[in-house]
Amino acid sequence: MGIRAIVYGVGRVNCIATRLMIEKGIEIVGAVNRSGTKIGKDLGELSGMSQLGVSVSDDPAHILSTPADIAVIAIYDDLQRMFPIYKQCLEAGVNVVTVGAHASYPWRLEPTLSQQLDDIARTHGVTISGSGNQDFFIVHLGALMSGVCHRIDRIVHRSLTDVNNFGSETAGIAYVGQSVDCFQTKANNQTPSVYTTFWDNIAAALELTVVDVVQTVEPIVTTTPRICRSLNRTIKPGFLIGIRQRLEVFTKENVRMTGENSLWVCDTEEEEYKDWEIMGEPSFKIRVTGLATGFTTASQCVNRIPHIIKAPPGYITIDKLPKLTYRQRLTI
Ligand SMILES: NC(=O)c1ccc[n+]([C@@H]2O[C@H](COP(=O)([O-])OP(=O)(O)OC[C@H]3O[C@@H](n4cnc5c(N)ncnc54)[C@H](OP(=O)(O)O)[C@@H]3O)[C@@H](O)[C@H]2O)c1
Repeated sequence: MGIRAIVYGVGRVNCIATRLMIEKGIEIVGAVNRSGTKIGKDLGELSGMSQLGVSVSDDPAHILSTPADIAVIAIYDDLQRMFPIYKQCLEAGVNVVTVGAHASYPWRLEPTLSQQLDDIARTHGVTISGSGNQDFFIVHLGALMSGVCHRIDRIVHRSLTDVNNFGSETAGIAYVGQSVDCFQTKANNQTPSVYTTFWDNIAAALELTVVDVVQTVEPIVTTTPRICRSLNRTIKPGFLIGIRQRLEVFTKENVRMTGENSLWVCDTEEEEYKDWEIMGEPSFKIRVTGLATGFTTASQCVNRIPHIIKAPPGYITIDKLPKLTYRQRLTI
């Protein structure tokens, strides 16, 4: 059976997702963005394709009244700002896949909102899940590697992600273009890292209990002008091109987990990577390169769609979903 999708948030990630869905046989029945210049434009043209006959609307209630199987959402990361949007989709009887990072495993950070979304989804017989780059590259790869081990003392994940692969929302998370003073003021009231909940997914997959996460963030300041395509401007020397975040994750079972995630506007010489290191018996490492993280965020999210539609109703995190595999066509 064919799949009908609504694109919610017509930014960098979802414009890639639009092409991937069309090429895999998914019908796009509506597109929503906040008010602005994209409203009334054709989704296909905004996504660099030919016209799809789907014009972008700023009226989600109207678009969600169209029969659809799933809303593909790429707007913000934090669950607090995303909650009303997820709620509205679920109440309309539409499944949700989102790349909003904190939706990947929201139970520890936002237990009340998570429970509410789980209840709403069950009431309306639909499923909500978070996917994106964390799906294979963090949660499932990390969990698979752990299967080799007899004992794990520490799991380390390091990554470099190029902000230029994303839109202005991601550039904002990395403080791109901001002064060190501005960064320091905001860093004093820091929200949890976008990488935090991925460790909750891994802990759930390994049946570990996260007891604490200690987060530090370091500003990365450029000494030469650096072009930021996400913001369509050049960052002057002395200003931030991004951040390096460090997460120390403590578990009840004394398996330590460490994240070192660099998120900045890369130079032409720099290559994105994802490194994994497990220390225990045995100790070993894996490095993934050749990434285009904007694309892989969208491709994993799109490839997940059939699993989410077929999953039982409720909040089902990716650690509970089947193995993510290539499919020639995406159907249910
Ligand atoms: N899980 C992952 O692997 C992963 C990886 C990278 C990024 N992300 C996250 O994915 C999200 C999207 O990233 P992106 O690079 O695509 O960002 P983006 O290009 O800035 O796109 C965001 C889109 O959402 C629209 N929008 C903002 N508020 C809205 C609202 N209330 N209702 C409807 N539309 C709204 C924006 O409209 P305007 O055009 O008016 O601004 C824009 O079109 C971010 O939260 C980012 O951090 C996740």
